[in-house]
Amino acid sequence: MPKTNNRKNEHVSLSEKFYKEGDSSFKDIAFVHHSFPQCDVKDISLDVSMLDLPFTSPFFINAMSGGSTWTGKVNEKLAVIARETNLAMATGSVSAALKDPSQADTFQIVRKTNPNGVVFANLGAGHGLENAKRAVDLLDADALQIHLNAPQEIVMPEGDREFSDWIENIQSIVEGLDRPVIVKEVGFGMSRETVQLLESIGVKLIDISGKGGTNFAQIENYRRKDFKLDDFEAWGQSTVASLLEAQESVSQASLIASGGIRRPMEIVKALALGASLSGLSSQIMHMALDDVDQTIQTLTHWKEEIKRIMTLLGAKTIEDLKKTDIIITGDSAEWCEARAID
Ligand code: FNR
Repeated sequence: MPKTNNRKNEHVSLSEKFYKEGDSSFKDIAFVHHSFPQCDVKDISLDVSMLDLPFTSPFFINAMSGGSTWTGKVNEKLAVIARETNLAMATGSVSAALKDPSQADTFQIVRKTNPNGVVFANLGAGHGLENAKRAVDLLDADALQIHLNAPQEIVMPEGDREFSDWIENIQSIVEGLDRPVIVKEVGFGMSRETVQLLESIGVKLIDISGKGGTNFAQIENYRRKDFKLDDFEAWGQSTVASLLEAQESVSQASLIASGGIRRPMEIVKALALGASLSGLSSQIMHMALDDVDQTIQTLTHWKEEIKRIMTLLGAKTIEDLKKTDIIITGDSAEWCEARAID
């Protein structure tokens, strides 16, 4: 861990400090077991057709790192993992490099390490088209993620307090950028109203990034020196609730799931709830900070585990998973009832 205090370093070290396994909304989802799977493990394909990009796995390394010397080194580790496991990978927000070009290499190391991989650049919704183009150019990115993080900014001592230009910014980027645009949350989840609004301005890829894993209200609250904003730590909806909201309301866009996804079974449950890809951040960070080689082995094993789960579900493709029989219980079932989701 680094000795110097810097927001980017603190985000990584605090996400690790608060890392915890288990208790996510996925415990509310159960697959119904049927005794005749009707397919063999060798029949299963993990390919995902999205963005005309070669996704050979239904999960990827979601946005986290870059913007300081140490987080540049973390990005290099993550990029080695992405290259060796053939996973797509997003960098953390490149706004630090747009403001201070001396930080550019802490992001560019990802492309340098993995020249042929699928790489996403990342930027906040406060930026316009010009910066979006610069972000993509910085990494020769295959797509741009734009993050929505209002609760994080509100709790962050030095955070933004103005959000009213976000929709206009996103629309201009979607219309003017020559790469696909993914709009994502950062662990607070999405409502069906948000999903519908994003679709109405032409967004085709939506990562609902729900509550249950990394909690940026908790991280920013911890960073506050003056009065604390504890109540914000419970803000947002779970990943399962967000997927249920999105699945019901989405018409054209593809969904991506993230937020508290820690295991192959949770990756598959997220796909069964309508996502085409599952994004993992803090889980992969947790493993990568410990041992890169072991992380590569574990993630390679996960692909086989996902194939075995899909076999039991009789799903030969990721698309087939959307037809599996699931039971929803607990808080997620209550959420569906309160929001009249079928
Ligand atoms: C993040 N996340 C994030 N998201 C984003 O869009 N831009 C960013 O710069 C960052 N930075 C960042 C740093 C660290 C250390 C973590 C752990 C996370 C949010 C991330 O992409 C994801 O949406 C949430 O973390 C929820 O997923 P997990 O961590 O619960 O798997």
